[in-house]
Amino acid sequence: MEKTIYLDNNATTRVDDTVAGEMLKYFTEEYGNPSSLYSIGAKARTVVEDARKRVAVLLNCEPRDVFFTGSGTESDNLAIKGVARRYKNKGTHIITTAIEHHAVLKSVEQLSKEGFTYDIARVGEDGIVDIEHLKSLIKPDTILISVMYANNETGAIQPIEEIGKIAKERGIYFHTDAVQGAGKLSLNVKELNVDLLSLSGHKFHAPKGVGILYKRTGINPTPLLSGGHQELAVRPSTENVPYIAGIASALEIAYRDIEVHREKQSALKKRLKAGLLKNIDKVVVNTPEKSVFNTLNVSFVGIEGESILFTLDSFGIAVSTGSACTSGSLEPSHVIMAMGRDHTTCHGSVRFSLSKYTTEEEIDYTIERVRETVEKIRKISPYK
Ligand SMILES: Cc1ncc(COP(=O)(O)O)c(C=O)c1O
Repeated sequence: MEKTIYLDNNATTRVDDTVAGEMLKYFTEEYGNPSSLYSIGAKARTVVEDARKRVAVLLNCEPRDVFFTGSGTESDNLAIKGVARRYKNKGTHIITTAIEHHAVLKSVEQLSKEGFTYDIARVGEDGIVDIEHLKSLIKPDTILISVMYANNETGAIQPIEEIGKIAKERGIYFHTDAVQGAGKLSLNVKELNVDLLSLSGHKFHAPKGVGILYKRTGINPTPLLSGGHQELAVRPSTENVPYIAGIASALEIAYRDIEVHREKQSALKKRLKAGLLKNIDKVVVNTPEKSVFNTLNVSFVGIEGESILFTLDSFGIAVSTGSACTSGSLEPSHVIMAMGRDHTTCHGSVRFSLSKYTTEEEIDYTIERVRETVEKIRKISPYK
């Protein structure tokens, strides 16, 4: 096969052609600054405000509660640091989980250097947060709970509605990193009981470098940046008009066709899982039943995930061994470790993440190449 078989869509996705096409005119024709008062500026303002309304419809919130940012990482930082710093007079304790993205974990760590304290809720063997443990961590001075919606490595869906309810009953702000839920799960913020929610465009066929932060009306996070009045001064910076138009379109496209994607990708994921389990020995499935429809994480016991990654790459197949940020280092995944797997299982984990562009032919080719690869590596491996 000539072209890349791209099975790393939790790392990033190909930009949708319609989205790319729509964005183009905002680079070369309608390139005004939304803050400018003349017509070309006013036009750009309309594009941004229209995008905000379109996103608000999908999130079931007020347009004024949608903020455009530069990434999922920025949205997470703004939500967590912004809320903690603004409301520190109400309390200084934060709760998050062992499987969060580093954008969340490092934000909380940073806050701990500013006088905040935090606790980490554990997950079960299925990678789903242990609600009873999380509840037991709540203290009178807990101000913020941050739990991701779907895990980027295993795809495990977290019980957000339930945790949101617990937080609401106790007057604690609740943030979810929904970066891996977009286009796969409902983003209705009212039903999810969330106060703040982060999204990243490049996970749903918009470009890299644009994110969204939803925050409930009345919550006023302290900005990360000092500057102008853009985005109600919550996120000062001249608005990235093409990318804002792009992220709104991509989100609409993702939800317009969600049932089609769910059906097709669930079937492909099932085919991949069955194919790997049937053809290869000692495979541990790290993705629970309750998971997003595009993600399958498995461990090939006794083999380094990286050696599989590089061999598959030579066949033109792109997969990952952990989150995009940790791949490249041989540190075992903190997510798989948190699920209580032993070291060898952690090291052998490989993530396959599909998209609307994945085909059955690509899945069948991948199963065969993985089978060959695992067989070859196991033959020469000292750990048999
Ligand atoms: C769950 C999760 N949160 C946050 C991020 C960061 O998003 P971005 O790459 O837009 O900074 C990622 C990206 O890998 C992610 O998977």
